[in-house]
Amino acid sequence: MPGVVIVGAQWGDEGKGKVTDLLAENANAIVRFQGGNNAGHTIVRDGEEFKFHLIPSGILYPDKISMIGNGVVLDPRILLGEIDGLKRRRVDVGNLRISANAHLIMPYHVLLDTAGEVKLGKLSIGTTRRGIGPCYADKALRLGIRVQDLLDVKILRKKIMAALEPKQQALRELSVQRRKLRKEAGEGAREGADQTVAEAPDPRLDLHAMTEEFAGYGHRLEPHIADTARLCWDELDGGHTVLFEGAQATLLDLDHGTYPFVTSSNPIAGAACVGAGIGPTDIDEVWGVAKAYATRVGAGPFPTELHDEVGRHMLERGHEYGTTTGRERRCGWMDLVALRYAVRLNRMSALTITKLDVLSGIDPLRVAVRYRSREGAVLDSFPYHQSILHSAEPEYEELPGFDLDLTDCRSESDLPAEARAYLDFIAEGAGVPIRLAGVGPGREQVVWIGEERGVL
Ligand code: IMP
Repeated sequence: MPGVVIVGAQWGDEGKGKVTDLLAENANAIVRFQGGNNAGHTIVRDGEEFKFHLIPSGILYPDKISMIGNGVVLDPRILLGEIDGLKRRRVDVGNLRISANAHLIMPYHVLLDTAGEVKLGKLSIGTTRRGIGPCYADKALRLGIRVQDLLDVKILRKKIMAALEPKQQALRELSVQRRKLRKEAGEGAREGADQTVAEAPDPRLDLHAMTEEFAGYGHRLEPHIADTARLCWDELDGGHTVLFEGAQATLLDLDHGTYPFVTSSNPIAGAACVGAGIGPTDIDEVWGVAKAYATRVGAGPFPTELHDEVGRHMLERGHEYGTTTGRERRCGWMDLVALRYAVRLNRMSALTITKLDVLSGIDPLRVAVRYRSREGAVLDSFPYHQSILHSAEPEYEELPGFDLDLTDCRSESDLPAEARAYLDFIAEGAGVPIRLAGVGPGREQVVWIGEERGVL
């Protein structure tokens, strides 16, 4: 089974890192294909916790190649911080490979992300403010700086110069607009302070300092820079298994998610081809990862969101705080309308349900099976129109809950009948078999479902 894609089936934070870590056991290479350090993957190995934002979750296997594909946007400071952190913990990173074509998140991207969000005010997307959107925008504008540019200081300076000028202008304009708004709101004292900031050249945007700094990153990253697409082909053509590890998730997809409340990349399975440089027929399996309930960080529609004690239970028992920003995640019931959409869009061959243990103590359990529009129409499929989705009301089926603590369950027969019935209901409603259920953060805290245990 050479090409396997792992994708998030909801709004992110489903536990893809843990699933990747488990499946990686049978793979030769693990590749990240989109997103950047907006992602946060947590893996618990022998009680030790590892948090990654950029490095593929396969890095804990030193004999496997971990790749950052061309579709990723990469903040070199964050990446080097992760590399140093791993080295301190004696994890060998010698097999990390970074695509020469991946784009770099520059300091001005981070500034623009924040300034853009501040400007949007109440309409803000709730981005992670890591510069993701502005970096992908520069890629599309052909003003991006790529990893390979780090290796030639002359080219690097030229490219930064070309990209920097419009950013300085945009940031100046955003700052002037902000001062105007503050003035209108009568915030005189701060206005004076802001004016000084706007007029002084921002030291973070100095061409020479930035070039020097990034050339330095280039020196450190050089041993890892490679033609990662070719490395993927070599593995796939040799019949070896390659895992393509998605970040974020289907409903945050730039094209197919709840736009504009989405990320700026394509976290769906199809994007693995573009973001890693492989062909569609290189993909043999697509594993979706969904939580046993639903969460979302940031703004945007979330039909099954809960604002009650049950939502609080999910937040607290599930430790639903963002790995990247520490924000509280919004929590709600499992949504089969959205999940069916994700299953089809990614053409999933298998589903993993994580955090099933978090639901113990909730009775009854509810699962959204359809939506109803404001006009009373029944919606069995995920509405493509933003206004319909925003006002859609979910309709639920109730299932009996369970009290048993699932964290020690290791086989299907350990699970209470109600938990098994809950999984069966999801599998049937989503139209795809569930192969694995997570019952705790540890890598051993899983229950394989069906005959084929852990087989790829
Ligand atoms: P951005 O990716 O930082 O531009 O943020 C866009 C939207 O995607 C915001 O709602 C973020 O909260 C969300 N987002 C980005 N990365 C993740 C993630 O890894 N997990 C969950 N939500 C994310």
